[in-house]
Amino acid sequence: MIGRDILGIEDLSRDEIELILETAERMQEIGTREVKKVPTLRGRTLINLFFEPSTRTQTSFEIAGKRLAADVVNFSVGSSSVTKRETLLDTAKTLDAMDPDCVIVRHKVAGVPHRLAAVLGAPVINAGDGAHEHPSQALLDLLTVKEQKGRIEGLTVTIIGDIAHSRVARSNIYGFSKLGAEVRVAGPPTMLPVGIESLGVKRYTNLREAIEGADVVMALRIQMERLEGACFPSVREYAATFGLDRAKLRFAKEDAIVMHPGPVNRGVELSHELADHRPSVILDQVRNGVALRMALLYLVAGRGRKAGEAESRAARAAGEA
Ligand code: NCD
Repeated sequence: MIGRDILGIEDLSRDEIELILETAERMQEIGTREVKKVPTLRGRTLINLFFEPSTRTQTSFEIAGKRLAADVVNFSVGSSSVTKRETLLDTAKTLDAMDPDCVIVRHKVAGVPHRLAAVLGAPVINAGDGAHEHPSQALLDLLTVKEQKGRIEGLTVTIIGDIAHSRVARSNIYGFSKLGAEVRVAGPPTMLPVGIESLGVKRYTNLREAIEGADVVMALRIQMERLEGACFPSVREYAATFGLDRAKLRFAKEDAIVMHPGPVNRGVELSHELADHRPSVILDQVRNGVALRMALLYLVAGRGRKAGEAESRAARAAGEA
């Protein structure tokens, strides 16, 4: 996967996903050492290019890079020339001219990482583009389920909430389906995209039916920043109908686990109690995020910038300009 862009789970094969998960399992051990560093990416430069806020994703890409001994640059949009109206492509090409070995991009507009991947010499990892995909989140979710359940094939995974505006939902639908799980989505009809069944999922507007017999129940944050109009009458009504608490969880399998990508709206998607206690595995997801991102960085940037690739991308960029 050297030099490869990681833009979405839709583009990855089952074998590639399994390779990433197995690599991440090997990386987990490094995080348990007293000195949590290996020289694998020494001399390589990674740029975190986040145009949208982030706690978990940006920090864990940074820690992942540093555990592999790479130099990690956190590009801070607020104090950059983006505030002087430099275009996205000019910003990206400027950073690319400094020869990074990997660029990690988050942007509120779907497709931005794909656009940048077409012009940058370094491989691009999508760290979340609008409501489209968030591949590293889905991969760390797969890693966490594999760790907790020992397998993914044959499990029933219920994803609850704002499916329409959630990039985490889309990436997880592709990921869990490709690895052989049954995926169900549940939420108010206004939050379930028309035709979502074409992705191979079952669609529910009744939470109890959606959770019945599930091995994994994943609650999603309501994407207030992406909602154009009201999708439900009130937050309180949403919490009463779709907010997950112990009483509703009774319908799932007895050993079901609860997941949430964070940040959690406490008392809305998840009760305070569930947010903090088993069977929720939210902090395991966060911990696994570091190992998973180490695996991604190792797999795509492990041998450095490919000269040929950089040149051909630069030529493409010149052609487009
Ligand atoms: C998610 C995101 O930004 O897409 N957060 C994350 O990366 N863990 C989920 C969200 O914001 O709801």
